[in-house]
Amino acid sequence: MIYATLKTLHVLSIIVWVGGMVFVHFFLRPVVAELEPAVRLRLMHDVLGRFFQTVLAASLLTLVTGVWMLGRVAKQVVQSGGSFEMPLAWTFMAVIGVAMVAIFMHIRFVLYKRLSRAVAASDWVAGGAALAQTRNWVAINLGLGVLVLLVTLLR
Ligand code: HEM
Repeated sequence: MIYATLKTLHVLSIIVWVGGMVFVHFFLRPVVAELEPAVRLRLMHDVLGRFFQTVLAASLLTLVTGVWMLGRVAKQVVQSGGSFEMPLAWTFMAVIGVAMVAIFMHIRFVLYKRLSRAVAASDWVAGGAALAQTRNWVAINLGLGVLVLLVTLLR
């Protein structure tokens, strides 16, 4: 029951995180790109601020539930006298998952802060640059997330 709950929370967090990135990258961004910089940057700043708050929780929940599941399986194997060897797909998921969390922290605590400062100062050039970098890192994280899903679900 605990394991099933952890796995459900793990997958729900991933759905919110990866699904949100798909929405922002493929649906919101192309439409907002048509707007003039002042409106576009203010709008993206506010939308991303709300989205990143949720992703902060979702990414930490992904990490905690993932490590907790690993710990439970390893403990059970060791307690029943075996030696725990992590499946390759799990190792891949854990390594890429940690990289995704690190990339998100960069987006949230470096690039988003830069965007906030630029919007507060009405510096649309600096804001545009911060947003462009955010877009690139979100695209990388989205690619990594889809890769982990393919490896995990098709293994
Ligand atoms: C942050 C580090 C992560 C760790 C330590 C971790 C660990 C785990 C573990 C131990 C399981 C249980 C596997 C099983 O019972 O078969 C699991 C399930 C799963 N994880 Fe992760 N994970 C991490 C990140 C991710 C990421 C980033 C994604 C996707 C983008 C992901 C997607 C999934 C999915 C879809 C399942 C369910 C697999 C199934 O039931 O077949 N995980 N994870």
